[in-house]
Amino acid sequence: MGIINKSNACDFLSFSLLLYFLIFPSVCATDTLTQSQQILVGQNLISAGQIFELGFFTPSNSSKQYIGIWYKNIPDRKVVWVANRENPLQATDSASSLTIGSDGNLRLLDGKRNTVWSTNSSVQSNSTIAVLSDLGDFVLKDNVSGFISWESFKYPCDTFFSGMMIGMNNNTGEKRFLSSWKTDGDPSPGNFVLGLTPDRPPQIVCWNGSKTLWRGGPWDGWKFIGIPDSGQGYVNGLNLVPDNQQQSVYLSFNVYNTSAVTIIVMTPAGTVNTMVWAEETKSWHVNWVAPANPCDVYGYCGPNGVCNKNQSPICECLKGFVPNSTEDWNKGNWTGGCVRRLELLCQKNSSSLAAAGAKNDGFWRMSGMKLPDQYDYLFNEVSSSCEQRCLSNCSCMAYAFVTGIGCMVWSGGLIDVQQFSINGNDLFLRLANSELGEDRKKKREIIIISVTTISVVLLLGAVIFGSCRWRANQRVKRRNRIKGFDLPDRMDNSQDNLWGSHMIHSESSELPLLDFDKVLVATNNFSSTNKLGEGGFGPVYWGKLEDGQEVAVKRLSSHSGQGSEEFKNEIILISKLQHRNLVRLLGCCIEGEEKLLVYEYLKNRSLDTFLFDAKNRVELDWAKRFNIIQGIARGLLYLHRDSCLRVIHRDLKASNILLDDDMNPKISDFGLARTFRVTQELANTHRVMGTFGYMSPEYAMGGLFSEKSDVFSFGVLLLEIVSGTRNTSLHYQDQYLNLLGYAWQMWNKRRALDLMDESLDDSLSQTEAIRCIHIGLLCVQDHVANRPTMSAVVLMLSSEIEVPQPKQPIFTTQSLSDADLRSQCNSIRFMSTVSKSIIEGQ
Ligand SMILES: *[C@@H]1O[C@H](CO)[C@@H](O)[C@H](O)[C@H]1NC(C)=O
Ligand SMILES: *[C@@H]1O[C@H](CO)[C@@H](O)[C@H](O)[C@H]1NC(C)=O
Ligand SMILES: *[C@@H]1O[C@H](CO)[C@@H](O)[C@H](O)[C@H]1NC(C)=O
Ligand SMILES: *[C@@H]1O[C@H](CO)[C@@H](O)[C@H](O)[C@H]1NC(C)=O
Ligand SMILES: *[C@@H]1O[C@H](CO)[C@@H](O)[C@H](O)[C@H]1NC(C)=O
Ligand SMILES: *[C@@H]1O[C@H](CO)[C@@H](O)[C@H](O)[C@H]1NC(C)=O
Ligand SMILES: *[C@@H]1O[C@H](CO)[C@@H](O)[C@H](O)[C@H]1NC(C)=O
Ligand SMILES: *[C@@H]1O[C@H](CO)[C@@H](O)[C@H](O)[C@H]1NC(C)=O
Ligand SMILES: *[C@@H]1O[C@H](CO)[C@@H](O)[C@H](O)[C@H]1NC(C)=O
Ligand SMILES: *[C@@H]1O[C@H](CO)[C@@H](O)[C@H](O)[C@H]1NC(C)=O
Ligand SMILES: *[C@@H]1O[C@H](CO)[C@@H](O)[C@H](O)[C@H]1NC(C)=O
Repeated sequence: MGIINKSNACDFLSFSLLLYFLIFPSVCATDTLTQSQQILVGQNLISAGQIFELGFFTPSNSSKQYIGIWYKNIPDRKVVWVANRENPLQATDSASSLTIGSDGNLRLLDGKRNTVWSTNSSVQSNSTIAVLSDLGDFVLKDNVSGFISWESFKYPCDTFFSGMMIGMNNNTGEKRFLSSWKTDGDPSPGNFVLGLTPDRPPQIVCWNGSKTLWRGGPWDGWKFIGIPDSGQGYVNGLNLVPDNQQQSVYLSFNVYNTSAVTIIVMTPAGTVNTMVWAEETKSWHVNWVAPANPCDVYGYCGPNGVCNKNQSPICECLKGFVPNSTEDWNKGNWTGGCVRRLELLCQKNSSSLAAAGAKNDGFWRMSGMKLPDQYDYLFNEVSSSCEQRCLSNCSCMAYAFVTGIGCMVWSGGLIDVQQFSINGNDLFLRLANSELGEDRKKKREIIIISVTTISVVLLLGAVIFGSCRWRANQRVKRRNRIKGFDLPDRMDNSQDNLWGSHMIHSESSELPLLDFDKVLVATNNFSSTNKLGEGGFGPVYWGKLEDGQEVAVKRLSSHSGQGSEEFKNEIILISKLQHRNLVRLLGCCIEGEEKLLVYEYLKNRSLDTFLFDAKNRVELDWAKRFNIIQGIARGLLYLHRDSCLRVIHRDLKASNILLDDDMNPKISDFGLARTFRVTQELANTHRVMGTFGYMSPEYAMGGLFSEKSDVFSFGVLLLEIVSGTRNTSLHYQDQYLNLLGYAWQMWNKRRALDLMDESLDDSLSQTEAIRCIHIGLLCVQDHVANRPTMSAVVLMLSSEIEVPQPKQPIFTTQSLSDADLRSQCNSIRFMSTVSKSIIEGQ
């Protein structure tokens, strides 16, 4: 028995204060336990950054005591890890101690110095120390070699917190799952376990004993698709780390922001709770719970039943199915599920087939679904062949094509299907042809009805619109006279008039203002055949002015909330941004609520139509791609630094890069974020989801935006250009990684060239390509300070200067080994509150 036996004076103090430990528990706390020391009841290890604390504790209402780890600065103590959960000590045993034995293992001794718990490391060492890290990991290691022989993160209890991983390794047989406490006062393992399934791709599942209780669905590269309200990727902090060679798959949890502590707990009641420490209320706030309603309970409606929490009764049979036992079903006993009403054609006897002249089975689409359990996943199947594959196999009952996963098929009963009210996926259900026909007929009727209604509405609309426009015209004419806008006849003399007789010049601004009527004519009344696409701020139309000039007209969504004057001033500024790698703004038009921007029209359209298309991408050889990369970099540099305005683009992505006849890139949509300042919240929620793969972590999570966020998007774009694949929705070698994850993995294995688009083989300059990937990885680093500026990027692209080594982007990708992850985690510190708007924006 003794106290920590250290030679500094502090220990004498702690000895004399032993009696006052309850008041001064950490007078000379350290984060390290050595072989010559021990931890006694009342003494604690404290991590270097004062974040975690390890020591003896007694749960409320319990007569037992345990060694555990908890957050030091959180008064409502939540023990996140327990050493001896199955081997408790009596709470009255005040002589218990934790030591490092002569064999280099941790030992928990009772008052009689019997070992009640110990670690199992077989590594012998006489310089073993145990350190409590700031991540909350209790690590047993050799002080000389640094070799880690044991760590608490490998033995999770009921709490999943930042820096940890759960999952499994087939080679070693390791299963790292969460298990609940038995009760709030008893940390011994309860019935409920949270972990990953061996499915491909893995699902997150909570079991009650051996029965599935709740299922979060398979991982799609960014999220578990059965959790409709989770954020994605680095917003929820979760990431899947598969390793085919190791036959392992792990789920990591890393939150970005240290300011809010977030934990995921498997509770004794059988729910998975995500909890955030709320500093204002000094309490744990439960952010998210599963199962949250009966529909979340696994298989609640039985096979082929579908659950909808907003309906009563909540269970219903899938279309084309009837209750297996109507009696049970009507009594509200849904466990029997439903059976098919009409046999499928392929199930019928071939003799009866010919007689009926039967039509083949078809698929019924159900949207917003939680996809059923027990799927097979057909690797390498594209979306169009997925349907065929299912149709050609009579045991295939349904299929789905999910971005980031691919073709999923089901045979047998469809279990655990749910109708979500947000998000969810399309499920295609196989049905006999006649089941589909019924609805087709109905649909046709509906279409006829709606066609008539629509035509009436259109007719009325046209009449009203015509008269309004007439009035508006009168108004504008009046206003133009009042404000002293130039008159058309004077304008004809103007030198820099791009618009011939279409434009009216404002004296003060030189901003070409265009007559609304002329735009209407040019775009054929914004006809849908003229529509080029839908941008972040509204649809874009192709138009041809009277003099034959082709233009692209952006019709801004009306909710910009800005007054015309303010808007005009903003546009005047934007129109001054001119660079060969920016799309030229030719003019604008303001008419009542309508705000139109008129750009030069580029025939080759946007980069994504080339890059992500199997046929078109061949046109982009390496020289063209390198030119595009450099052009975008220069355009962005101009926006950031060289222009009068210092514009942050905020929405850089492949579809915002237009290509001219010679495949020179031109950035579009720049500066518009400025005009949307007023309703930034709105713009955010709209665009956050639209371009998720391009968003930097600091923007996705905190809405913080800087030039470096553009640098991040540029990095993603660069990697997309060299690889010819989108960052989102990726499948690499049967692993569920996104492009950034794959790029990092290949870079780390010194196989960066594997990333390159295969169609580039002939034209590739290897040194340029590797340099590009290198720079791309620098740009997508997690932390703003690590990313280069655009001027550095331009320099690195165009010269041979030394380029620093990139750090692994852990919030946007995933790592290869624990060690990698740990070293990264130590250099950053996590914890985040997820921006509410992002979750709602989904
Ligand atoms: C402890 O016991 C009291 C009284 O028996 C009870 O009200 C309380 O809920 C218990 N607390 C816990 C954490 O079990
Ligand atoms: C140590 O090994 C024994 C037997 O192999 C096992 O029962 C025990 O749970 C292990 N203890 C820990 C802490 O891993
Ligand atoms: C333990 O320490 C002694 C010296 O104190 C040294 O001779 C011996 O090699 C060490 N043993 C191990 C396993 O490191
Ligand atoms: C660990 O090693 C370092 C030097 O390598 C030494 O300064 C330190 O005192 C050692 N710590 C313990 C607990 O032995
Ligand atoms: C877990 O299973 C047990 C036994 O099968 C059952 O009594 C209990 O209600 C289940 N708990 C939940 C939350 O489903
Ligand atoms: C582990 O092995 C099981 C059974 O052989 C298999 O189903 C599963 O896919 C494997 N998991 C991984 C991650 O390789
Ligand atoms: C329908 O009910 C019968 C008898 O209750 C059972 O044998 C059969 O498996 C059920 N069918 C399905 C699809 O669950
Ligand atoms: C529900 O129906 C199943 C058969 O489909 C039966 O085995 C079970 O006992 C029923 N449960 C209740 C509560 O009636
Ligand atoms: C298939 O057809 C044969 C005769 O054509 C008939 O005897 C048999 O019952 C049929 N089977 C089924 C499952 O309908
Ligand atoms: C049809 O699907 C079943 C179940 O998925 C599978 O076992 C079987 O091999 C498939 N048959 C063919 C010919 O693909
Ligand atoms: C971290 O969270 C705090 C409050 O929870 C917030 O004020 C801060 O801006 C966040 N930091 C980042 C980098 O997101």
